[in-house]
Amino acid sequence: MESGSFSGQPGGEILALVKAVQVTDVPSGTGKVVQVEGKTLALFNLGGTFYAIDNACTHVGGPLGEGTVDGTVVVCPWHGSRFEIKTGKVVGPPATRNVTTYPARTQDGAVYIDLP
Ligand code: FES
Repeated sequence: MESGSFSGQPGGEILALVKAVQVTDVPSGTGKVVQVEGKTLALFNLGGTFYAIDNACTHVGGPLGEGTVDGTVVVCPWHGSRFEIKTGKVVGPPATRNVTTYPARTQDGAVYIDLP
């Protein structure tokens, strides 16, 4: 995996973006588990827009990046909890807690994730 990062101040915000993958690594309508800066995240491509959430399901840690994408929802591969990819909101049991989301953007064919 390539790695790299840059900082910028578009819109006056200070950003710390970390390169995750190439855009072509995650086809539209799918997700992928990615490692960035020691964190394991799930990255999704919904119609060309990328979204990043914590990979670990809030039920008992299933890998959401390996889940099935159903519209804008990811279904946990372990017990079927459902999460809204854009917001991290849990929308189907057994999980009851939302997952954390991270801003993602594309530049020059790569996907960058804004980590806190
Ligand atoms: S670990 Fe995801 S639903 Fe159980």
